[in-house]
Amino acid sequence: MHRKIVFFSFLLSFFVVNAQKNDSKKDEDRVKMEHAQIGIMEDAASGYKQSTHPSAQWFAGAGFGMFIHWSISSIREIDLSWPMMAGTQIGWRPSNNKMDSAEVRKIIQSGDYFMGHACKKDNSCLTPNEYWEQSKYFQPTKYNPEEWARAAKAAGMTYMVFTARHHDGFAMWPSKYGDFSTKNYMSGKDLVKPYVEACRKYGLKVGLYYSGPDWHFNREFQSFMYYGVSRDYKNVPSLDANLQARKTVKTDAEKQAHYYRVAEYIKGQVEELLTNYGKIDMIWFDGGPDIPRGNIAWDKCISMKRIHELQPGIVVSPRFFGYGDYKTYEGDAKLPTDIQKQWAELCVTIAKSGWGYTKHPLKTVETVLKQLILCRSRNTNYLLNFGPTKEGIFSEKMNQKLDSIAAWMKINGQSLVNCRALNPDETVSVPATSKNNHRYLFLFSDNKVSEIQMKTTSEIKQVTMLANKKKIIITSKAGITTIPLTTVQRTALVDVIDVELKSSK
Ligand code: GLC
Repeated sequence: MHRKIVFFSFLLSFFVVNAQKNDSKKDEDRVKMEHAQIGIMEDAASGYKQSTHPSAQWFAGAGFGMFIHWSISSIREIDLSWPMMAGTQIGWRPSNNKMDSAEVRKIIQSGDYFMGHACKKDNSCLTPNEYWEQSKYFQPTKYNPEEWARAAKAAGMTYMVFTARHHDGFAMWPSKYGDFSTKNYMSGKDLVKPYVEACRKYGLKVGLYYSGPDWHFNREFQSFMYYGVSRDYKNVPSLDANLQARKTVKTDAEKQAHYYRVAEYIKGQVEELLTNYGKIDMIWFDGGPDIPRGNIAWDKCISMKRIHELQPGIVVSPRFFGYGDYKTYEGDAKLPTDIQKQWAELCVTIAKSGWGYTKHPLKTVETVLKQLILCRSRNTNYLLNFGPTKEGIFSEKMNQKLDSIAAWMKINGQSLVNCRALNPDETVSVPATSKNNHRYLFLFSDNKVSEIQMKTTSEIKQVTMLANKKKIIITSKAGITTIPLTTVQRTALVDVIDVELKSSK
């Protein structure tokens, strides 16, 4: 009987681990495919110039930030922008594991470009025109970004990044440029301004997300078929905003005139964001403009030079130009495994999947803390995303997670805030960070080791549990210190050990 239980639990854990691996592979492939579609050149970038401007230096030790993905998609409680693309069910598959082409051909022949009806059940499959219809109902009555900023600050975050405009093209401020912003739908209400003010009030650095691609502005000139499908199946037609095959083709002259319009439009909007709201600490571009690389219209678009004229100390993500101030990683599978030499940031969602507000379950607090700690031990900032509801608030569940993170950070936050990776000649058998003469060692709840081995370059003054200041008696031999954990009282979340060195060298 006992053996049977052991065997079945082994089998179960085998399937769970494999399912997790598959999920993470799927997630990685999806991110890759999305980045290809929105023209993110970052992977090909030869280097990161890393601003030397004094007021950009906060980014090196920023540590923990709050990402906000919010747009008209909150009306239907679906993700931002991507649900309007047909064919994601096929496109998410890695190219070396294509869906059987006969199956795909059948879908294509049927003319039903939703391609995968499963997604209709949760209301997340719709045409671009249906997606944009949501703008008519977007009236966030409870919007109060001070609540977000207060929660971010309490959780030990130091910066925020807010989607001023996502790929769906809806600008969250009354932009003079284009016809798809709060100017046209909310009588000119500015959602960016109170956000910027809230960040300042709580001493958080102000970040604005701005998507290079704008699928609304570009709607007559692009296909709403997911990139992976068009790439793998050449006979797929270009789809219009009703997900119907296009009947007309734009001439080269029409395209060129459009590229100029795109350039002028983006330049206008980015300049608005960088002039109308005072100091902006970060612009988080996501994807290049809808202009082919090398096309003359690029010269009329926003340039790095112009950005620095308007905001000299700004930190710029590399996802628009192909270069910027830091290296960007996205998704759980992309958590860096080694100490980063240049500025770096990982962005992930608190939801198990999706950036906007959906009913998807959320990650556990332990998972969030683990990711944050591993990022910090590798000199990477951790940008954790929250998707507010259509009213403009966090869900009850999100607030609970934030409260638990805040409670943990209140006790242990000093081990992460303004901390760095260990010095190159120090080693320790668990994840660790350093600050002056302190080394912080992290025990995840699933790590049941009975001791930690550590090599430091200076003598150790004392070792305590950070939470209760209880001393731990250590032994040292041949330059290696052993920290026994048998007497240490473990908690349900991550425990932190504070190693104080006699000198900070
Ligand atoms: C990807 C997605 C986008 C999301 C972003 C955040 O580029 O296209 O939906 O906003 O990642 O990193």
